[in-house]
Amino acid sequence: MPDVALVTGAASGLGLATTRRLLDEGWSVVGIDLNEEAGQAVFGTLGERATFVRADVTSPEDVEAAVAAATAIGRLGAAVCCAGVGWPGRVVGKDGTAHDLGLFSKIVQINLVGTFNVYRLAAAAMVSNAPDANGQRGVLIGTASVAAFDGQIGQAAYAASKGGVHGMTLPIARDLASKRVRCLCIAPGIFDTPMVAGLPDKVRESLAASIPNPSRLGDPAEYASLVAFMLASPYLNGETIRLDGSIRMAPR
Ligand SMILES: NC(=O)c1ccc[n+]([C@@H]2O[C@H](COP(=O)([O-])OP(=O)(O)OC[C@H]3O[C@@H](n4cnc5c(N)ncnc54)[C@H](O)[C@@H]3O)[C@@H](O)[C@H]2O)c1
Repeated sequence: MPDVALVTGAASGLGLATTRRLLDEGWSVVGIDLNEEAGQAVFGTLGERATFVRADVTSPEDVEAAVAAATAIGRLGAAVCCAGVGWPGRVVGKDGTAHDLGLFSKIVQINLVGTFNVYRLAAAAMVSNAPDANGQRGVLIGTASVAAFDGQIGQAAYAASKGGVHGMTLPIARDLASKRVRCLCIAPGIFDTPMVAGLPDKVRESLAASIPNPSRLGDPAEYASLVAFMLASPYLNGETIRLDGSIRMAPR
């Protein structure tokens, strides 16, 4: 029975790099993304072990269907959550207007509630897996951000959502310990993905210069490499790892 990984936000950036890496390692991948056009286009080039499912991570029905697509292929052994958004907004804007509450809720809904939605449904499928050689049934991996720890001006909503992704890692690992399902989290610094690619060269250069060592943007393949390490390391559980060239973000 093939090992299957569910990857969210798989049409772009960190999710796409993870999809490529896991395919290279022999996994089958069910990639989900809201962006159907980009997802279909890229997954069409990834070979027969890659399946794209258009899904909104905040939708119980969409994610149930994606999990069902994964379990129809094989043993769902990993769920890696990369779907996310990061619109900025100050608590009180320069014109004196209070932060839009709908925007705050939407960011938390996608980044935090969406991640939990995937965790709960993937874990419910994993618990009926036969244990692997290490006695384990599956691994959940979330994507926080260094903003979970040092959020900048304008990042209240984003930092709250990512703080939640970090904060639920240990209790979920504890909840699922008896089922032998691990839960881990990655807190990336600044990575060279479409989120950052759209910025002017000067801004990208100054972002790179702000990273102590190595003094460059992170390569999405480096994020995928940490995912692969986490999957292969059964003693790693209930932990968030910063992957950030030792950057600590300044207020702005
Ligand atoms: N790039 C960075 O520097 C960086 C740093 C820290 C954290 N992160 C986090 O890493 C994750 C991936 O970021 P990225 O840079 O690859 O971004 P990206 O924009 O390249 O990819 C994110 C993907 O998520 C998808 N998505 C958004 N909302 C969705 C939803 N409701 N349902 C399903 N899919 C949805 C988008 O369509 C997109 O394809 C995000 O959670 C982001 O907050 C990124």
